[in-house]
Amino acid sequence: MIQLPPGAYRPATDRWGSFKRLSASLPEGSLAVVDRRVARLHPTLIPALKARKPRAVVQLTGGEVAKTFESLEQVLAAGLSMPRSGTLLAVGGGTVGDVCTVAAHLLKRGVRLVQVPTTLLAAVDSSLGGKGAVDMTVRGQVVKNPVGVFHYAEEAWLCPELYASLSETQLREGALEAWKMVASLDAELFRAYARRAPSLERMVKDARRLKESVCAKDPYEHEGLRRVLNFGHTFGHVLESVSRFELSHGDAVGLGMLCALDVGRALGITPDDVAWRVEDALHQGPGVLGRERTAELFARAKIKDVVALLAADKKAGSAGELRMVLLTDLGTAVVRDVSADQWQALWPTWTRGERP
Ligand SMILES: NC(=O)c1ccc[n+]([C@@H]2O[C@H](COP(=O)([O-])OP(=O)(O)OC[C@H]3O[C@@H](n4cnc5c(N)ncnc54)[C@H](O)[C@@H]3O)[C@@H](O)[C@H]2O)c1
Ligand SMILES: [Zn+2]
Repeated sequence: MIQLPPGAYRPATDRWGSFKRLSASLPEGSLAVVDRRVARLHPTLIPALKARKPRAVVQLTGGEVAKTFESLEQVLAAGLSMPRSGTLLAVGGGTVGDVCTVAAHLLKRGVRLVQVPTTLLAAVDSSLGGKGAVDMTVRGQVVKNPVGVFHYAEEAWLCPELYASLSETQLREGALEAWKMVASLDAELFRAYARRAPSLERMVKDARRLKESVCAKDPYEHEGLRRVLNFGHTFGHVLESVSRFELSHGDAVGLGMLCALDVGRALGITPDDVAWRVEDALHQGPGVLGRERTAELFARAKIKDVVALLAADKKAGSAGELRMVLLTDLGTAVVRDVSADQWQALWPTWTRGERP
């Protein structure tokens, strides 16, 4: 039988507990990469790692600056002498997780990866699903994730004490991504969430289970089945760009979900009561920002700029036609072609901050 290489698809084993307890199982000689800010905010973290006699502990500054070839090279340099059986431990948000995923894929043509997501966004989304990427500057423009790999983590450590230092905005953006999965994939759970907002731990567990169930059907994205995870991301990415990234990714996705509900209703795909329920729950639960924020941001843009942004994001054809994830019901999503005329008809109401 051919043995699966490290990084080949497998559902990650999730382990919950304090970092101190979980790190006791880290093999000696591992390479640890830690978000510098996390190390500062949680002063027991580095000593717990050092107790495991690691090969090296590399600290990276979190944020998109972590997703450069320079930081990738720094991680690779620290891991060059690692054996093929070695472990790379990534402790940080999605940016540290993404660069470490690439590094784990390259070192010895693939070493074992353990993810310790420290942001809620990383816990519910980026630390799961095997994708890693770095950014590039092409003709003076930063392009996000143009090169990357699939390399699945073998384990994820979920350490609730690390989430205590997250800001309200960071907690909200992770929650919005989690609610995105629940609204588009699991009607029963959505109803339960709408009745009573879940605890953070519950939300992470549910979101990870839902994302895993989608990735399991299409681990290397050959079938397009993972597209449903992009609910809210079409106009979300536009809003993020128009705000010049002032708006967090999760907040942008929250507003993008409201746009997707409007498009779905306009096309007769999303029933009105479903759209109302989801919009209402997004306000009551994770606290989606208001439509006035969408209006304010769209007022800064012209439709032709939005068409260009969508085209650059590979979400639209050159004439502005889109492939969007729309809800047909609570917990059920489809991918549909939306013509430029169809979504542009909603533009006047969006720029006024009204529900069409
Ligand atoms: N691989 C995937 O499937 C996937 C999916 C979604 C997003 N992503 C990527 O994830 C990245 C965004 O991830 P992110 O939002 O976690 O960003 P991030 O890694 O930049 O973290 C955001 C900020 O939070 C800080 N931080 C991290 N943990 C903290 C903690 N516990 N307490 C306080 N501050 C903390 C970081 O230092 C950073 O300044 C993007 O680059 C995106 O492309 C990848
Ligand atoms: Zn997202």
